[in-house]
Amino acid sequence: MGWTLPPDGRRIGLLGKGGAGKSTTLAHLLGHWVAEGVDVIGIDMDRPGDDESGSLYAWAELADLGAPVYPAPAHTRLAAEVRRLTPAGGLAALDTGAWERKAGGPHFAVLSAVDLAVLMLQPTDMDVERAGSVLAAIDHLDEVGAPAPDLVIVLSMVNRSAASPADTRQALADAGYTVLATEIPRSDARDGYGQSFGKRPRLAAGSPMQLLARELLAHITPEDGR
Ligand SMILES: Nc1ncnc2c1ncn2[C@@H]1O[C@H](COP(=O)(O)OP(=O)(O)O)[C@@H](O)[C@H]1O
Ligand SMILES: [Mg+2]
Repeated sequence: MGWTLPPDGRRIGLLGKGGAGKSTTLAHLLGHWVAEGVDVIGIDMDRPGDDESGSLYAWAELADLGAPVYPAPAHTRLAAEVRRLTPAGGLAALDTGAWERKAGGPHFAVLSAVDLAVLMLQPTDMDVERAGSVLAAIDHLDEVGAPAPDLVIVLSMVNRSAASPADTRQALADAGYTVLATEIPRSDARDGYGQSFGKRPRLAAGSPMQLLARELLAHITPEDGR
């Protein structure tokens, strides 16, 4: 299957609170995107010490993620720098640290640098409540006429035995948001996502990570490019 992205490529940013699984998901997506024939790079906008767990950049130093991962460019000229780094006809994927609303922080810069914002969200009432400020930030960019990315929501760390992700999905859809079909399950098994940091990600056919990689590509590929 081929994916034809525009000549100047596409840019995706993963957002969400700390521990939502952003870095783990992106580490897996990179390899799946490469397997799909996409020329992709990762950019780590997380600052060291922001999160308890390791950053994407630290992971890339420990294991081959299949694609190069660059540390954060300066926030002030982020959009231009990310465009410069994006492979022609390819993809730049930005990992971010825990969402914060501070002006001058990296997150508004990321929102202005990407075509698609992916909100990684654990489907609990508290997490949905907190996600409000991410959604509000994107709405705000729209209101002031600044370039604002499209937004999709991915349910992550989904625990099948806990409160229903279906309710969260429905509530978000009712509020007008796009929730992708693929959910990333919570997986604490020895070879599961929760134990994968620092290792070369397992790229399993039919896995949630592969399905998410494809669903995201479908979202950013122009209609005539599929
Ligand atoms: N799908 C998952 N299932 C189980 N544990 C996960 C999963 N994704 C991430 N984790 C674990 O949760 C913690 C936070 O994940 P991480 O990817 O660093 O989140 P973020 O980058 O959003 O802060 C890490 O210890 C990681 O190993
Ligand atoms: Mg992270």
